[in-house]
Amino acid sequence: MKTRVIKVDRDRPDPAAIEEAAAALRDGKLVAFPTETVYGLGAHALDTDAVQKIFDAKERPANDPLIVHIAHIGQVNQCAVGMPAGARKLGLSFWAGPLTLVLQKKPEVPDLVTAGLPSVALRVPSHRVARALMETAGIPIAAPSANRFSRPSPTTAAHVIADLDGRVGLILDGGPTDIGLESTIVDFTADPPVLRRPGGITFEQVHSLVPEVVVQTVQGSDDQPQPAPGQMGRHYAPRAELTLYEGPAAAVVPRVAADVRTAAAGGDRVGILAPEEDLSAIAPEIAGRASAGRIETSPYGSRGDLDRSARELYASIRALDATGVAKIFAIGVGSDGLARAIHDRLMRAADGRVKTIGYE
Ligand code: TXA
Ligand code: MG
Repeated sequence: MKTRVIKVDRDRPDPAAIEEAAAALRDGKLVAFPTETVYGLGAHALDTDAVQKIFDAKERPANDPLIVHIAHIGQVNQCAVGMPAGARKLGLSFWAGPLTLVLQKKPEVPDLVTAGLPSVALRVPSHRVARALMETAGIPIAAPSANRFSRPSPTTAAHVIADLDGRVGLILDGGPTDIGLESTIVDFTADPPVLRRPGGITFEQVHSLVPEVVVQTVQGSDDQPQPAPGQMGRHYAPRAELTLYEGPAAAVVPRVAADVRTAAAGGDRVGILAPEEDLSAIAPEIAGRASAGRIETSPYGSRGDLDRSARELYASIRALDATGVAKIFAIGVGSDGLARAIHDRLMRAADGRVKTIGYE
């Protein structure tokens, strides 16, 4: 399959491009498109054959259910049986936006979409291109992130091409995405409702409107339907082995510098992923080393600007991976507010290799 990329204006997409993409979706084909969180790989959600193409293109295991995208809250009843009061409250407040609600599913939604679960995950994206596409297509669109399974989610069309070239017919390129991390998932089929994945809407925002919502603590297993993403070990994994360092900059920076020097001296090609001010602080500690040529650095935002940290995180991980480093030393930015989502993704990428510095 040849992959075509059509550039579209993110605010005023060309109606002809949208019509072409919508027709392809209605016709059972795959289309990758930007949302405000990450790029999605879309298919007609009520067409089992179309949805199967998503799993094939991504090499995604069938026990990982998909999010269904709709144009507005009025379409919830196409896919779900009712909306509990808390879900309605969140939908009315945060849609269109980076929030996914898990509700009891209607039989019309194929089991393939939900991995056999009795629930369905629904989201109304705010990105103009995504909205135009859904309004024009007039159908619910199943869309996971448009990456190969276990790769970081794509925040640019170039990331989509890197993972899915030849596996998707059409990519709408609306430039880099705004939020950069996947949507917040709240499951209202659980009692009390559970935050399954932190994202662009913070737990604090959710909790202030619906105080019953609790944070998920239990881990799933690899062969059951996945009630939340990333419970399979290496969901957001880079190719390199990533170790996460958490703690105040004053404690973490010297520790990472020391560990990086040791690894580089041992012959490893290493990368540092850190907020820009931490990288600046580390630079003099690794400069001028004989091994300095083997150390790559990649900033993601700043401790003072977590919106930018979220936006840049996946691109920064991909950039380091592309240099071929064997190990990545990553510095986290805490876990409150939006940092909860950043921390969650870094924890998954670290696959258990986490060092908390300076709190003892
Ligand atoms: O921001 C986003 O949510 C992006 C954009 C494209 O909208 N999509 C996205 O999809 O991140 P994906 O497939 O990478 O993550 C979907 C996750 C799944 O891993 C799954 O575990 C969870 O949503 N999910 C889907 N259906 C569910 C259900 N019925 N119950 C609980 N969790 C569900
Ligand atoms: Mg994904």
